[in-house]
Amino acid sequence: MSHADDHEGTRRDFLYYATAGTAVVATGAAVWPLVDQMNPSADVKALSSIRVDISGVEEGSQLTVKWLGKPVFIRHRTEEEIAEARADDDADLPDDLARNHNIDGTADASDANRALDEEGKWLVMIGVCTHLGCVPLGNGAGDYDGWYCPCHGSHYDASGRIRRGPAPENLPVPVAEFLDETTIKLG
Ligand code: FES
Repeated sequence: MSHADDHEGTRRDFLYYATAGTAVVATGAAVWPLVDQMNPSADVKALSSIRVDISGVEEGSQLTVKWLGKPVFIRHRTEEEIAEARADDDADLPDDLARNHNIDGTADASDANRALDEEGKWLVMIGVCTHLGCVPLGNGAGDYDGWYCPCHGSHYDASGRIRRGPAPENLPVPVAEFLDETTIKLG
């Protein structure tokens, strides 16, 4: 299932490791390593935990990787984004749960509960709209400077929380952790 030779012409490359350490695949944000439909069990197992090199993700930009068949947004937020997200903790949030799989399911939707690090520089989310599953647009899109799903008009804020539109829940935060300063492990 290696797509190491598929990365030509993509805008940004990143390293993508299987946990077993046997495969290192250079690929691009727009080219997913596709799961072989004929043999999903082996591939899904291999991808159940991945390491992502974030050293090239500049402040104010977002890396999208595919994990367990879904896009995962890894955003390196600016000071302004962090401030806006944290100021909005007091806003009227349609979904008041963190939706962060690292923490207790009843935790509130404060930005500190959703960001990966204490300072809030890194926000990692499953990039699937909680309405009907489209992939929202990012980079400050929508009326709340976060993500916007054009399918039916759901607006997410700079913390990935649903603010307006039909989506019922905040964008989910997967199990994730820093292995070192430049490596995030998903799963
Ligand atoms: S799928 Fe996103 S708004 Fe409907």
